[in-house]
Order: sequence, then C-alpha cells, then structure tokens
Amino acid sequence: MKNLNGGKQMKDVWLLPAIAPWEKSCGKHPTQKPLRLLSRIILSSTKENDWILDPFSGSSTTGIAANLLNRKFLGIEKEKEFLEISKNRRLELDNKTIFENYKNKL
Ligand SMILES: C[S@@+](CC[C@H](N)C(=O)[O-])C[C@H]1O[C@@H](n2cnc3c(N)ncnc32)[C@H](O)[C@@H]1O
Repeated sequence: MKNLNGGKQMKDVWLLPAIAPWEKSCGKHPTQKPLRLLSRIILSSTKENDWILDPFSGSSTTGIAANLLNRKFLGIEKEKEFLEISKNRRLELDNKTIFENYKNKL
C-alpha cells in the first residue's frame, strides 16, 4: 500500500478520479465502480494468480481489474444484460493494445 502512495502510509480515505468514459466502452451498469478503485483493493489484499470471487459482479469491474493484475476471476450475476457487458469487457482484454492501455491507466 505504501508503494502505491509514494512510500507513505496509505490514508483510510482514498481520493480517486470519477469513473471515466473509456471504462464504459461495453455499456453502462448503474453502480459501476472505477477500475482504479478495484485495482487498489485487489493489490492490497491478493497475490498474483490468486482467485477472486465477486458473487454480485454487475459489469465485472472487479474481474477486469483482476485480469489486468494477473489474478483469476469468478463472477456471478443474475442480469443477462450485465453478463453481456462483462463478457464484452473481458473479450476486449484479448486485444493486447487495449490490455496495455487499460493497465497503464490503473
Ligand atoms: C451493486 S451491483 C455490484 C456490482 C459490482 N460488484 C461492483 O462493485 O461494481 C450488484 C449486482 O448484483 C446483482 N445481483 C443482485 N442479486 C443477485 C443474486 N441473487 N445473484 C446474482 N447477482 C445478483 C445485481 O444485478 C447487480 O448487478
């Protein structure tokens, strides 16, 4: 956590930019979180190759952050519309340019 904060102790209030348009490239979920927020949580609590479960995965921001950070992801979501967004977001990452571009924005 210190490494993510310029060597200083991370505060308990995180100031991050609001969700950006590029994060909604595959459609909108009403409570979608910024990728940066999920990536920070994942980095603070998991190791590479760990499995991460989100049983209410929405548009799978947790999964996208997990895959960008070399973690495995299992999501559960009851709405087909959000599963479709999740699937398309995951497929986007198969494009190396997009993968690197998103990773650099975390
Ligand atoms: C608040 S969103 C959270 C999305 C995501 N975890 C995030 O942090 O951005 C909750 C999601 O859970 C889904 N959901 C609610 N009840 C569910 C259930 N019983 N099984 C699977 N998904 C469910 C909703 O459709 C919604 O997309």
